[in-house]
Amino acid sequence: MIQEHEPEATRRDADVAESSRANRGWWDRNADEYQTEHGTFLGDDRFVWGPEGLDEVEAELLGPPEDLKGKDVLEIGAGAAQCSRWLTAQGARPVALDISHRQLQHALRIGSAFPLVCADAGALPFADASFDLACSAYGALPFVADPVLVLREVRRVLRPGGRFVFSVTHPVRWAFPDEPGPEGLSVSASYFDRTPYVEQDEEGRAVYVEHHRTVGDRVRDVVAAGLRLVDLVEPEWPAWNTSEWGGWSPLRGNLIPGTAIFVCERSEMGAPPAGGWGRD
Ligand SMILES: C[S@@+](CC[C@H](N)C(=O)[O-])C[C@H]1O[C@@H](n2cnc3c(N)ncnc32)[C@H](O)[C@@H]1O
Repeated sequence: MIQEHEPEATRRDADVAESSRANRGWWDRNADEYQTEHGTFLGDDRFVWGPEGLDEVEAELLGPPEDLKGKDVLEIGAGAAQCSRWLTAQGARPVALDISHRQLQHALRIGSAFPLVCADAGALPFADASFDLACSAYGALPFVADPVLVLREVRRVLRPGGRFVFSVTHPVRWAFPDEPGPEGLSVSASYFDRTPYVEQDEEGRAVYVEHHRTVGDRVRDVVAAGLRLVDLVEPEWPAWNTSEWGGWSPLRGNLIPGTAIFVCERSEMGAPPAGGWGRD
C-alpha cells in the first residue's frame, strides 16, 4: 500500500521562486477539487469577488457594466475564468491568465471565447499599455512573495488611467485560526507576523504557500508600484449567503471581515522615489 505523506503546515520564509513553484504544483493538483467544491457557488459566468458572494453586477468596482463594452481586460489568477466569461457577456475583450495549466483546462471545459494564458503574474507576457482594465478575484496576490513585482507588472501593461481591482484574504484573518466555527473567533497569532504560511513535504520542500501583508503593507505596495488607491472595499456577509468556504462562514463573516478588495488606478506620477514623495 502506498502511504501518501501529509504535508506539514508551518510558518517560514519562502522566496519568489519557491512560492511560485509550490503554488503552480498545488493548483495543478487541486484544481479539480476546487472547481467541484466551489464551481456552483462561483457560477460559470458570474463575477464573484470572494466567499461573501459580492458580485460585480452590484459592486461595479470596474465601473458601470455599459462602460466595459470594447475594453481590453486582463484577469489575473483567473482559475476557470468565470469572471472573464461575465466580462465577455458585457462586450469586453478579456484575456484570462493563470499559473496553473489545470485551472485553465477547466476554463476550456466550461468554454472560453477569449485567450487563455498560462504564465506567472510576476512576469506578464504582454506589451506595455495593452489593457484598459485588470482584475483579480483572489488570484495570484495572496500567493506571491513579492506583490510589488506583480503590481508593477500590472501597471506596466495597463494603459494610462487604467484600473486594477484585486481581492485578497482580509489581512486581519491572519490573526485567527482558519476555522469556520467558534474556534475561528479567538486571536491565536500576531497580525503583525508576516512569516508566510507554508505546507511542506517530508524533504522540507514547499508544496503550498500563502503570504501575509498587513493592510498598511498592501497600501504601501500599491503606491510603491505606481498605482493610486481609489477605494478599499470590505464586503459584509449578506443574509442570503448560508455557505461555508473553508474558514469563511456566516458565523465569522458577521463578526470580522473576510475579504479586502483594493481598487487602484495607474498613477501617472509613476512610482515614488526611494524614501517616498516627501513634502516638497
Ligand atoms: C483562489 S484561486 C482564484 C481563482 C479564480 N479567480 C476564482 O475566483 O475562482 C487562485 C488562483 O490564482 C492562481 N495563481 C496562484 N499564484 C499565481 C501566480 N503567481 N501567477 C498567476 N496565477 C497564480 C492559482 O493557480 C489559482 O487559479
